[in-house]
Amino acid sequence: MSDTLTVNGATVSVDSPGETPLLWVLRDELNLTGTKYGCGTAACGACTVHVDGEPVLSCQLALADVRGDVTTIEGLGRPAALHAVQEAWIRHQVAQCGYCQSGQIMQAAALLAGNPAPSDAEIDDWMAGILCRCGTYNRIRAAIHQAADALRGS
Ligand code: FES
Ligand code: FES
Repeated sequence: MSDTLTVNGATVSVDSPGETPLLWVLRDELNLTGTKYGCGTAACGACTVHVDGEPVLSCQLALADVRGDVTTIEGLGRPAALHAVQEAWIRHQVAQCGYCQSGQIMQAAALLAGNPAPSDAEIDDWMAGILCRCGTYNRIRAAIHQAADALRGS
């Protein structure tokens, strides 16, 4: 049976069984491979997407339980090409291997949507669930501060 989802502002039809984790619907059925599989056990955050603006672990959310509009890294900046967080990420050359980075960016964007001027401690606390084996945490923090400045127009 097909289901309807709103992903990155578009209504899409999907055929995956309802128990399929959203992660695999995005990657395998919709070819949105920017969202990464790290652990599948809610331990790494690489699979983070937004549902109605809230960060969720897409490896833990069954298709049948998706209630709201899904945004992935591919659609985060819409209607612009890039979100301010993505621009700051580029400027600070945050990524190393890159594997965790879409999860980092989605989590950071959700932070700034609710807290326009987070402290270092607030950033560390909010981002703690998104692991980076390359240890890019200092650059992540710097990029979040820059994106916060840009979003505030300062
Ligand atoms: S893949 Fe979802 S938390 Fe690791
Ligand atoms: S950049 Fe390599 S895991 Fe984060």
